[in-house]
Amino acid sequence: MKKLDIIAGARPNFMKIGPITHAIHKHNESANEKIEYRLIHTGQHYDKKMSEDFFDQLNIPKPNLNLGVGSGTQAEQTGKIMLRYEEAIKAWKPQLCIVVGDVTSTMACSITAKKEGVKVAHVEGGIRSGDESMPEEINRMVTDSITDYFFTTSSVANENLKNLGHHNDKVFFAGNTMIDSLYANLERLIKPSLFDENQLKNKDYLVMTLHRPSNVDAMQSLEHLLSLINNNVDGKKVVFPMHPRTKKMYDQLGMNFENLLITGPMSYLEFIYMIKNALGVITDSGGITEETTVLGVPCMTLRNSTERPETVTQGTNEIVGTNPDNILPFLEKLLLGQWKKGSIPELWDGKTADRIVKIISGLD
Ligand code: UD1
Repeated sequence: MKKLDIIAGARPNFMKIGPITHAIHKHNESANEKIEYRLIHTGQHYDKKMSEDFFDQLNIPKPNLNLGVGSGTQAEQTGKIMLRYEEAIKAWKPQLCIVVGDVTSTMACSITAKKEGVKVAHVEGGIRSGDESMPEEINRMVTDSITDYFFTTSSVANENLKNLGHHNDKVFFAGNTMIDSLYANLERLIKPSLFDENQLKNKDYLVMTLHRPSNVDAMQSLEHLLSLINNNVDGKKVVFPMHPRTKKMYDQLGMNFENLLITGPMSYLEFIYMIKNALGVITDSGGITEETTVLGVPCMTLRNSTERPETVTQGTNEIVGTNPDNILPFLEKLLLGQWKKGSIPELWDGKTADRIVKIISGLD
């Protein structure tokens, strides 16, 4: 395959596609047959802090095209992306569309490509939480059902795909491109100004991120959760960079929590700095549990399931659930220094994008 589209739409996509663009450039330096690609940003995330800053810090080339879809319901975003990407396909006729992860842009572009006769490669294919109330799970199911080439992050994903009837010759166990970004940037991390401004000390504060509807859309339960955390961290600070969705709800609460250090979305290099040096992380993200696993930092997941079970069976992650009260014994364990030690899953070695590009370059 020599003519590719690479799709990125929302924040967690950017650290996954960056290494793929870099690996293509590296490939093109020595290969006889060069790979041509277009980087297409759907515009699902559009705030500078949610998008452009990631491109700058991760040295990702400027997108060739921005579909500019912006906010909307799931259906609005999906529909707009499909209409606009269809035109873009007709204008350039790529051979392969590479989608990553599980966001709305992933699903919308894979459907559009497939209907236009363009093969689909899904990076991070095959993972499942089993929780169909999350839009991401639907996105995974739909995308995988029409994917031609799967690049997987774990043996669990390989097994899921096998059970779904996908042939082994379509499944490539390649590792984790998000971890490529992590390793490539560990020496470049930036200490945010809030670190010294608040006299934070390494391994003496927590980091929290929340943005799932199950945690942030109901005001009372958000208030209960934040109060519990605020009151049970032994006076330690909890740095809380807020997603725009969470911020809207938090502002309506109109409350102040003395131990929560509220800030806006952080840049990649600052955020990784903060989690690397944290005592522990509280999150409802999936990707962050992979990063904390590699960094060996204790992580509590405020969800009832995970599509990344290796972060629990091998890594430092624990599933706490969405009932706020569940978090207390986990906080206690963390503060007593009794958190489990983890190990790093197979092929999460920083070389995944090279493997993916090598395989793609050999596909007809
Ligand atoms: C999306 C992904 C989710 C990912 C998350 C990370 C889907 C289904 N979900 O959820 O998997 O973990 O991104 O951030 O694709 N907004 C802004 N500025 C922006 C982007 C969004 O203000 O740059 C606001 C909008 O008002 C929007 C809300 O945030 O209503 C949610 O954005 P949306 O892209 O719909 O989904 P996320 O919750 O960000």
